[in-house]
Amino acid sequence: MVAGMHLDQEDEQILAGEQGETRQKMLELLVALGKVFGAERLVPIKSAQVSGASYKTIGKYGLEWLSSLDAKAVVPAVLNPIGMPRGRWEEMGIDPDFAEKQQAVVAAYERLGIRLDCTCTPYYLYETRYGDHLAWSESSAVSYANSVLGARTNREGGPSALAAALVGKTPCYGLHLDKNRVPQMVIDVHADTAGWGIAEYGALGFHAGKLAGNRIPYFRGIRPEPDQLKAIGAAMAATGAVALYHVEGVTPEAQKIGYDLSGLDTVPVEQAEIASVFSEIPVDAVAVGCPHCSPAELAEIARLLTGKVVTKPLYVFAAQGVIEQNARVVDSIEKSGARVFADTCMVVSPAMEQYRSIMVNSGKALAYVPNMCGGQARIGTIADCIRVATEW
Ligand code: F3S
Repeated sequence: MVAGMHLDQEDEQILAGEQGETRQKMLELLVALGKVFGAERLVPIKSAQVSGASYKTIGKYGLEWLSSLDAKAVVPAVLNPIGMPRGRWEEMGIDPDFAEKQQAVVAAYERLGIRLDCTCTPYYLYETRYGDHLAWSESSAVSYANSVLGARTNREGGPSALAAALVGKTPCYGLHLDKNRVPQMVIDVHADTAGWGIAEYGALGFHAGKLAGNRIPYFRGIRPEPDQLKAIGAAMAATGAVALYHVEGVTPEAQKIGYDLSGLDTVPVEQAEIASVFSEIPVDAVAVGCPHCSPAELAEIARLLTGKVVTKPLYVFAAQGVIEQNARVVDSIEKSGARVFADTCMVVSPAMEQYRSIMVNSGKALAYVPNMCGGQARIGTIADCIRVATEW
């Protein structure tokens, strides 16, 4: 028992330094976190997803800290997107000095046993099941795991996700506990959603995140598919701090558990509020794949680009594993002049800072591009993105 937490024999050995200084420090970090949030125990995790991967965000001191660690991940652990596609950074116009530093960050994580998938969609590569406990840190991945898959993870910081990967456990508090997963507000969508795609659901998430803040919303009036759920959750995590949401009749916990919604704050969302998120500003580049594209999204992009040539830079982002598994589709997209890059994205790569305005089909990118890349952002449907990228 340490700080009110029950620890097993192995934990006690780790804390005594019997498995090395790094693992000792990592467990101390997890215990301290658990103490702050009132956790009574640690829970074993199935996987970790570690943010703090782009040199653009962690800088010199983050790299020094990573380089000082000496242990190996004991559960499958993947890295969040980094600042460049590892094998094609020159093609993306990345500065060689940045590339060298980014490679050093990647090498430091690799030495710690973190898999270099560099993606915010690890669920396309590693099986993640209902009820699994995880330590994931990228906000859209956290939302997807909790809401769409019914797995359980808090939104970890980079260090706590890394600590969980190296120890194989995380403190059991927050969204790991049933009592903290119940809806806290209702959002009633009054709109004709027939024909809605990823962009419309992303726009809904962009708007709904501001309404929800850090509450757990329960949606009524929508029937999104998995890629559309991905878009809602990513956007709500960007404009709000939503790490879990439910959709009536769609998401697993909303289907399995009969939530009592009486007495909850109920907020209507009208069609006009979704429409107001869309704009027509001129753009110099188009970027899709936030969160990283699914196989179905890649296929849709390839279909829309058939017989076309891009007249503006068109970036498509996906996990390397998804790109490899869909190589023919990716070839077909690149025939148009578009580029399909792994490992990075329109928000974390410094290469995107060269553009004054970027068109996206993602509510999350709409929220983050202005702050992280300095330019303006406009959201459009995937068909509109392809039209704008190929118009003369
Ligand atoms: Fe993923 Fe980058 Fe968007 S990490 S969710 S593609 S901002």
